[in-house]
Amino acid sequence: NDMLQWQRTGFHFQPLRNWMNDPNGPVLYKGWYHLFYQYNGGGAVWGNITWGHAVSRDLTHWLHLPVAMVPDHWYDINGVWTGSATVLPNGNLIMLYTGSTNTTTQVQCLVVPTNPADPLLIHWHKHEANPVLTPPPSVLPHDFRDPTTAWTDPSDPSTFLVAIGSKDDSSNRHAGVAYVYATRDFLSYKLLPDVLHRVEGTGMWECIDFFPVSVDGQAGLDTSEKAGERIKHILKASLDDDRHDYYAIGRYDANENKWVPDDAEKDVGIGLRYDWGKFYAAKTFYDHHKRRRVLWGWVGETDSEQTDVSKGWASIMSIPRTILFDSKTGSNLLFWPVEEVNFLRAKSYEFSSIDFLPGSVVPLNMPANAAQIDIEAEFEVEKMAITMAVEADVGYNCSTSNGASGRGLLGPFGLLVLADKDLGEQTATYFYLSVSVDGTTQTHFCQDETRSSRASDIVKRVVGYTVPVLHGEMLTVRILVDHSIVESFAQGGRSAITSRVYPTKAFHSAKVFLFNNATAASVTAKSIKIWEMESTFKQNYEEHAYQF
Ligand code: FRU
Repeated sequence: NDMLQWQRTGFHFQPLRNWMNDPNGPVLYKGWYHLFYQYNGGGAVWGNITWGHAVSRDLTHWLHLPVAMVPDHWYDINGVWTGSATVLPNGNLIMLYTGSTNTTTQVQCLVVPTNPADPLLIHWHKHEANPVLTPPPSVLPHDFRDPTTAWTDPSDPSTFLVAIGSKDDSSNRHAGVAYVYATRDFLSYKLLPDVLHRVEGTGMWECIDFFPVSVDGQAGLDTSEKAGERIKHILKASLDDDRHDYYAIGRYDANENKWVPDDAEKDVGIGLRYDWGKFYAAKTFYDHHKRRRVLWGWVGETDSEQTDVSKGWASIMSIPRTILFDSKTGSNLLFWPVEEVNFLRAKSYEFSSIDFLPGSVVPLNMPANAAQIDIEAEFEVEKMAITMAVEADVGYNCSTSNGASGRGLLGPFGLLVLADKDLGEQTATYFYLSVSVDGTTQTHFCQDETRSSRASDIVKRVVGYTVPVLHGEMLTVRILVDHSIVESFAQGGRSAITSRVYPTKAFHSAKVFLFNNATAASVTAKSIKIWEMESTFKQNYEEHAYQF
């Protein structure tokens, strides 16, 4: 019906139909951005996994290509699982992926373009030597998957290094583990002694990503960029146990095959997240053309499988996000929609200096149905109220502290999107300030899904965490609303939250409101800009399918 059809997005990537999960092998090759993804062409649920494939010139408009790989050998007959691309120094492209074998053992396989001169990379050749890597004796057959992009060994440019995620359950440690293999030809591999890193209690590490960032925060770096004084390394793991992508910032010592976190309390799996909402199995690639590192994440559905089946599709890719080290805080990454997203901005609406008092809701009047928009907003909280609050909501926690409808001294306040006119349905993106006994302020950035839909088959949560705010900074948020997805970024991307929402009332006349549920503080929206966003897919999706 209308409502389910409406849930398809206008400017996010998604296949024409059926099930999608992880992004695979993203790469820029001969002027085309390639996105492969875990794909079940047979239905809207996980299974029979192949590699779907699409290309783009600008990361926003996509041409759907034929499936690149299907399970057709004993070593991947139970699924062509997640993998990564590596562009070799000579320009050749290779892919490593995990095959689930006829006995569901996880093995690593090599695949190369049949015709490297074809910029669209339509045909792929699985190497005769596959599988090129099988689980080492100490690893269980189901705990060995998702090879990373390879990087060159700093001490030997003809050797490449690849990380693979695993887990170590010996002595009940339940440790997440990253193994590193050395190879010269991608056919034979040597397991390096020890492990790159492990964290007890974090369980299976899926979809590891490992890449350098420049501490000056200026540009992205190629994966093979050597560690140094001005370069740190990010290690990311997707935790199978709790379905979030965790990262940590640290130092890489290739000689020792060791990565060490800067802050042991923010180690992989226990500290920072790429995104606090629905976002998993993300992968980056280096875009040498625009000198940036770009992140793709899988945003699954939070409705029921039965609804997905009736829709005929499941999952969206996040908006591609550039990743930079935050040189101002020195303790987190910055995630921000790639600049090409701005080119989709059409008609705009501007509001400035709106004061909203404690307990108020202010509509932002726009004639159109605000279902496909980009919002940038800046807030200032009344200074006096913060100074007066000697102690307020210490221990506030987005997930357990009553969401957007709870009331505290200094929050929550922010925006309601995909709201109907009576506010029966609304998704709230908000800030909440807490002040400790010694007067230190903490800013929480949260998203409340609990009233996002009247439908009852949906997982609705309040998600988010604290976000660093430096002295003199305003509170800033950017929100991309695209039908059934809300992607929010606070403080220039220090924190990101993605939600899937399924409005039943708001869907044909979605509105935007400001709200302030603080009891003690007035808030001023210094400026708010809202842009209607152009669609990158037409309603007739078939038109965009590649024809042979
Ligand atoms: C992550 C994951 C990967 C695996 C793939 C299978 O979502 O479970 O570990 O390779 O999906 O589709």
